[in-house]
This record gives sequence, C-alpha cells and structure tokens, in this order.
Amino acid sequence: MCDPTPPEPIPGTDLLFSLDRAVTYLNHGAVGAVPVSVQRAQQRLRDETEANPLRFYAHGLVGRVSDARREAAAFLGADPDGCAFVGNVTTAVSLVLNSLDLHSGDEIVTTDHGYGAVRFAVDHACARAGAVHTVVELSLCPTDDEVVDAVRAAAGDRTRLVIVDHVTSPTARLFPVARVVSALRGTGVPVLVDAAHVPGQLPVRVDAIGADFWVGNLHKWAFAPPGTALLAVAPAWREKVRPLVVSWEHAAGYPHSVEHQGTLDYTPWLASTAGLRTLRSLGLSAVHAHNTALVAYGQHAVGRAVGLDPDTLPSRPAGLSMALVPLPAGLVGDQSAASALCERIADRLGAEVSVNAWGGRGLLRLSAQVYNRAGEYDRFAGRLAALLADG
Ligand SMILES: Cc1ncc(COP(=O)(O)O)c(C=O)c1O
Repeated sequence: MCDPTPPEPIPGTDLLFSLDRAVTYLNHGAVGAVPVSVQRAQQRLRDETEANPLRFYAHGLVGRVSDARREAAAFLGADPDGCAFVGNVTTAVSLVLNSLDLHSGDEIVTTDHGYGAVRFAVDHACARAGAVHTVVELSLCPTDDEVVDAVRAAAGDRTRLVIVDHVTSPTARLFPVARVVSALRGTGVPVLVDAAHVPGQLPVRVDAIGADFWVGNLHKWAFAPPGTALLAVAPAWREKVRPLVVSWEHAAGYPHSVEHQGTLDYTPWLASTAGLRTLRSLGLSAVHAHNTALVAYGQHAVGRAVGLDPDTLPSRPAGLSMALVPLPAGLVGDQSAASALCERIADRLGAEVSVNAWGGRGLLRLSAQVYNRAGEYDRFAGRLAALLADG
C-alpha cells in the first residue's frame, strides 16, 4: 500500500491557536482546543459580564442563549425547539438517565466501544434502581451490519434505553446510528446517541437520524469553549426531561428549564457562535479534507515506527480525523497501564496522544487538526519507537 500524501496546510492556520509549540499536540479529540479568535470572543463576554454583572444575568440572557442555541442547532441539522445547551456530554447522559423511570429488573444496553465516564453513569443509575447494565461486545472493527444486529439482538422487553456512540472514543469507529435507531423503531426502546466527537468533525443532519436523544460536544471539533454541548430531544420526550438542577426557568419547560441554572458561566455557549464562524471561515470541507488526509499520513508514520505493516492497520472510517495505531501485544494490558504510558509519552516525548486498553491490548489514538503538520507525526513516530525500545 502507498503511504498517504500529507495535505498542504490550510492558509492562516499557523497562528489560529495558542498551543504551546514545544508540545506535539496530536490529541485534539480529547478535549479540543479553542482558536484565539474564540478565546477573545469569550473574553469580551466576560468583560461585559464584569462591567455590569446583574445586567448580564438578569436582562436578556435567556434570549441570547436561545439565539446561540438556534445557530448551533442549524449547524447540526437539528430542530431548534428540541435542542438545549448543556455543559457537556457527561451531563446530558446523566440528564437522560434522570429522565427515565428506571425500576428494579430494567435494563440499559451499551456497547464495549463506549466512553468510560458514560459507562460509570449507567452503572450508577442501574445500581440505584436495581437495574441491569448490559454491555454488547463487538470486534475492534465491526461491520455496520454487525453493530446493528448485535445491538438490536441485545434489546429486549426490559430494555429502557440503548446508548450507542456515533463516533467511538477508544476505538475511533463510526457507528451506523441511523440504522440502529431504525432497527429499534417500533420496539418502544429509546435510543441515546453519544455523538461527543461529531459536531465539526463530521457533517451531520441530526433530525435525519431520528434518535430519541442525541448529544454532541461543540468544544471538541467545533471550536467552542469547553462546556458547550448540544442535546437534541425528540418531541415525545421533551416534556419528560427532568432537569438535574431546578431553577428559575423550571416552569418554562424544556429547553429553558435545562439551560438555566442560576449564576453559571454562560459565556462558552454565547461564544460558540464565534467557533462556528471560525470553522466556516476556514471552509468546512477544506478542514475535513485536511484533517482526514493528515491523520491517514500520521497513522502510517506511527504504525510503521511501531513495526506494523500498513496493510494491517485498523481501517479509518470515512470522514474521521482520528485514527488508531495498535501497540505491540503485552505492552498495555489494562487502563492503568494505558494511562501510565500516556503520561510517559507526555513527559518524555512532550507529546499528547490518547492511549486506551481495549480488548486486552493498547490502542494509541491520533488526531489531526488544522494546526498539525506532517513533520509532527514523523518526529513523534521516531521518538515513540525509541521510547518503546527503551522499555
Ligand atoms: C464518546 C464520548 N462520550 C462522552 C465524552 C465525554 O465528554 P465530556 O467530557 O465533554 O462530557 C467523550 C469525551 O471524550 C467521548 O469521547
């Protein structure tokens, strides 16, 4: 197989972020990064708050949040009346779990490609209610049919919720969420799509997926400040959503009852429009083309350095800006070994990547964003090979 050709940098991206140039930052997928223009937009909102705090909170905030939410919803192809800003996907998952009437013997179904904190939240909700958490086991690179069939087969009479990831975190897969939703339609089992990695990384029409709940972080790939996620709720569920915090907008119902929780920092949501503007100014398709080509290049460079034949590398689902490099067998057996290796890579190589233990093996996940350059993956590859040879 020919090595992928790295893309030309997108003009104007060298100074777009304020990342420390001494660090090789190959993990945009973890918590994102905020462009300088968006940092400034948020700072202006903070300045405005501090100039007259009461005015900021008490006059027009509900309307301003609604305006920003409508823009985010339009970007994601979601019904603006069905969307609410929440702080992050973690919060949305607890909000949805809190809105179910879980009883003893009920079941929640997830997959083994799911995110750790979501697994903890489901375990916690199930333990409180005496419900069961069923984790569907899949292979590392399952086909779409395998995902749909396994999830559909796991959902039964007692299933109160299925959670399926749109883009998976430890394994960088793209799951056929619309097909999962349609396979479960008619069974009465609601579906929550964890789309933490989708906004800004993949073009999406949330309404076309038809999930009961869909939530994506705008602070990963859509250049919003941390603390910005959009939850989309199907009409049948909107009145059943139980906010985790009850405050002044409670009587207004969803989405205001979810969004307004007293004196919080609302500037990330208001500045999210600046993030979308920055993304559009670069050109969405140019960003996607750049990032997918660069991560392909990086996967080959790092894969070769750890001794893998490029033909055996895990597939890269179309449109993803993240890719996997399996680590040599025996190196990472569990999550604490994965975290220890991640820390060693950060300390000794000055590089940020993601390392997870999955299926008894270490998986290194690389990301590519407009600030990354091919040379960073080459340098990282050489240094990683030396680090692993060192033992
Ligand atoms: C698939 C998935 N779900 C949920 C989360 C949690 O996101 P947050 O920390 O913003 O709540 C992440 C974060 O990386 C994720 O990858």
